[in-house]
Amino acid sequence: MKILGIESSCDETAAAVVADGVNILSNRVSSQIDIHSRYGGVVPEVASRQHLLSILPVISDALKEARTGFDEISAIAVTNGPGLAGSLIVGVNAAKAIAAARGIPLVAVNHLHGHIYANWLSGRIPEFPCLCLTVSGGHTDLVLMKGHGQYQLLGRTRDDAAGEAFDKAARILGLSYPGGPAIDRASQDGEAVLDLPRSWIPGSHDFSFSGLKTALLRLVENGEVCSVNDAAASFQKAVVDVLVTKTLNCAHEYNVKQILLAGGVAANNLLRKQLSEQSPLPVSIPPIGLCTDNAAVIASCGYFRFISGGQDRLDMDVLPALSVVS
Ligand code: KG4
Ligand code: ZN
Repeated sequence: MKILGIESSCDETAAAVVADGVNILSNRVSSQIDIHSRYGGVVPEVASRQHLLSILPVISDALKEARTGFDEISAIAVTNGPGLAGSLIVGVNAAKAIAAARGIPLVAVNHLHGHIYANWLSGRIPEFPCLCLTVSGGHTDLVLMKGHGQYQLLGRTRDDAAGEAFDKAARILGLSYPGGPAIDRASQDGEAVLDLPRSWIPGSHDFSFSGLKTALLRLVENGEVCSVNDAAASFQKAVVDVLVTKTLNCAHEYNVKQILLAGGVAANNLLRKQLSEQSPLPVSIPPIGLCTDNAAVIASCGYFRFISGGQDRLDMDVLPALSVVS
C-alpha cells in the first residue's frame, strides 16, 4: 500500500511516497535554509510564500521518483500541526485539493508523531513498549508508546526546547544559522572545559534549558569565553548529559524494551554517540536525513493511522499549537 506524505510545517517543503509504512520509494525535501539564514531564523510570512512556490513541484518530483501515479496512492498523509499556521495551510490545502480531485482518502498527521516514525523507516521495526526522546526546534518530549498511535507524555521541556537552546547558544557565540549543526561542527574542534549548569529537576522527567543558555550568555558577556569551539563543546555536552541521563532514568522506571530517538536534534553527533554507548537497552537512531523535517516520516505515520481506521474529512483544519498528546 502506497502513501503520499506531505510536510510543510516550518521551513522545509517536502513530499514522499512510502510503501507499507516502512519502504521509502521517494523522499524529496526543498529546504528554505538559504533564504532564512540571512535573517538568523525562520520568517513565517516568507516561509509560507516559499511553500506555495515549491509544493506542487516537490509533490510531482516525489511521485515521479517513486514511479507512482495518483491512481496507485491509497491515502494522502499530511502534517496538520504543530507548526507555523501559514506554512501548515499550504501543505494541508494541497493535500485536500488532491484528495478531493482524485477521491483519495486524507489522513492528518501530528508532526511530532511523524518524527517518531523515522524509527520505522530505519531498517528495523521497533518493539513496544518503547520510550521515544523527541528533540526538535520546538519540542523536547519523552513519550511512552505501548502500540501504534498510543502516546503517553512522561516529560517535556518547561522552557526552551533542546533545538531552540542550540539555536540561541549559536547566536550568543556568533555561529551561523541553523545553530544546532553549527554547534555540532564547532564542538568537534573544541574541549568541554567550561563549567556550565545542568538542570536535573529531581522527581520529574521534565527538562529545562533556559538557565544553561543564560549561564553561557553571562560567561560571554564577562569575557570568560576565549574559544568559541570550547564554548560550543561545553554547551553541547551540558545539553546531551541531561538528555541522555534523564532518558535512561525514564526508560528504567517504565521498564521499556527499547529507546527511540527522533527530531532534528537527533542529528547531533554527541547525542547519538552518548545515548547508544550509555544505554543498557537497544537504541534506535534513524539516519540523519530522516531526523530533520521530511515527508517520508509523515507517510509512515499516516500509513499506521490509516490501516487502523484513521481518516479525516475535507474540512480538517491546521492545528498550529498541537501537542504530542491531544
Ligand atoms: O525537527 P526539526 O528539523 O524541525 C522542527 O520540527 O523543529 O528540528 C530543527 C532543530 C533546529 O533547532 C536545529 O538547530 C536542530 O534541530 N538541529 C541540531 C542538529 N541538526 C539540527 N541540533 C543539534 N545538533 C545537530 N547536528
Ligand atoms: Zn520537526
